Amino acid sequence: KIHRIASIPGDGIGVEITQAAEKVLHVLAKTLGGFEFDFTTFDWSSANFLKRGWYMPPDGIEQLKNHDAIYFGAVGSPDVPDHISLWGLILPIRKSLNQYVNVRPTRILPGTTSPLTTCKPADLDWVIVRENSEGEYSGQGGTSHGDTTYAVATEVSIFSYTGIHRIMKYAFETARSRPRKKLTMVTKSNAQRHGMVLWDKIFYEVAKEYEDVEIDKMLVDAMTVRMVLNPESMDTIVATNLHADILSDLAAALSGSIGIAPSSNLDPTRENPSMFEPIHGSAPDIAGKGIANPVGAFWSAAEMVRWVGQEVAADKLMQAIENVTKAGIKTKDLGGQKNTEEVTTAVCQEIERL
Ligand code: NAI
Ligand code: MG
Repeated sequence: KIHRIASIPGDGIGVEITQAAEKVLHVLAKTLGGFEFDFTTFDWSSANFLKRGWYMPPDGIEQLKNHDAIYFGAVGSPDVPDHISLWGLILPIRKSLNQYVNVRPTRILPGTTSPLTTCKPADLDWVIVRENSEGEYSGQGGTSHGDTTYAVATEVSIFSYTGIHRIMKYAFETARSRPRKKLTMVTKSNAQRHGMVLWDKIFYEVAKEYEDVEIDKMLVDAMTVRMVLNPESMDTIVATNLHADILSDLAAALSGSIGIAPSSNLDPTRENPSMFEPIHGSAPDIAGKGIANPVGAFWSAAEMVRWVGQEVAADKLMQAIENVTKAGIKTKDLGGQKNTEEVTTAVCQEIERL
C-alpha cells in the first residue's frame, strides 16, 4: 500500500526536522514492509514568498487534497512579519481543509525530566484538544487610522454552536478513550461574556451524553497555575484556539522541551487530508546549526502513520523514539549532547533492531 504524503518543510528548522522525519518514515516502511510513503515536497517557504510574493499558489489547497496526509515542518522567518507567514500558509491550510481539531499530547518521555522537580513521569500525561478553526484566530477585524496615533484595531473572536459542539464531542470521545476518563474545560468566561459563555454552555450540554467522563472547568489564568502545581490532577484538556496554543507550549516545556511536542490537525470526517507537525516554530535562533530536536517531528510522524491506518508501524516508531531518549541519546534542549543527525540515526537503528 502506498500512502501519498504532501510534505511542506517550510522555514528554518522546519526543513531540518522534516528531512529527518522523512528519513525515519522510509526506514520504518522498509523495515516493516507492506506499505510505502510517497512524499511530494511543496516548496512553500518564506524564501519563496520573498521571491514570488505568495506562500501557496492559487490552487495550493487543491494540490494538497490529492494526498492521504500532509506533513508540515514550520513556517516563519525574521524577514517576513509573522502574521503574513502564518496567514500565508498554515492557517489557510487548517481552515480550508476543515482541520477543526488540533490534538496535542504531552508526556514525559523515558530518560527525560520535567523542570518541575516534584513531578514524576506518571504525573504528567495530558492530551490538549485545541479548537482549530475559529475563535480568536478567525482573522476577522480591522484597523482604522492605522498609521496614526488615532489607530484603533479590532480582533474579533468568532464562536459558533457548530464549531464548539464538534470540538466538545471530539474532546469527550478522547477523554472517554483514555484510562482516567477525565476532561478539563478551559475558558475565560468571567471576563469574556459572549463567546466564552457559549463555550461553557455547550460543554455542559455535551457532558450529558458522557456521564462516564469526569468533568471540571477552569479559567485559563488559573489553569496555568494548576498545570505547574498539580499536573497529576488533569488528563484531557479542551480549550479554544488561542488558549490551547499557549497552554500547549507551557505543557511542552513542563514535559521537558518544546522540541518533543507533536500535533495533529485533523479533519475527523476524513473528507480532507489531515496535517501533522511539531508544535514548535522555525526557531531562527538555532536554524542551520543541525541541533534541532527531531523528537517532536518523529512523534508527529507517528501520529500521521497511525492516522493513515498503520497502527503497528506507529507503535514501533514511538517505541524506537522512547528507547532512544531512554538511552540518553538527546539533543541539547533535553540536556543531551547529540545533534539532529545523531538522534535521527539512532531512531532509524532502533527501528531496524526492534
Ligand atoms: P519557536 O518554537 O520557533 O522557538 C522557541 C524557542 O524554542 C527557541 O529558543 C527555539 O530555539 C526553541 N526550539 C523550538 N523548537 C526546537 C527544537 N525542535 N529543538 C530545540 N529547540 C527548539 O518559537 P518562536 O521563536 O516564537 O517563533 C519562531 C518563528 O516560528 C516565528 O516566525 C513564528 O511565527 C514561527 N512559528 C511557526 C509555527 C508553525 O509553523 N506552526 C508555530 C510557532 C511559531
Ligand atoms: Mg504555538
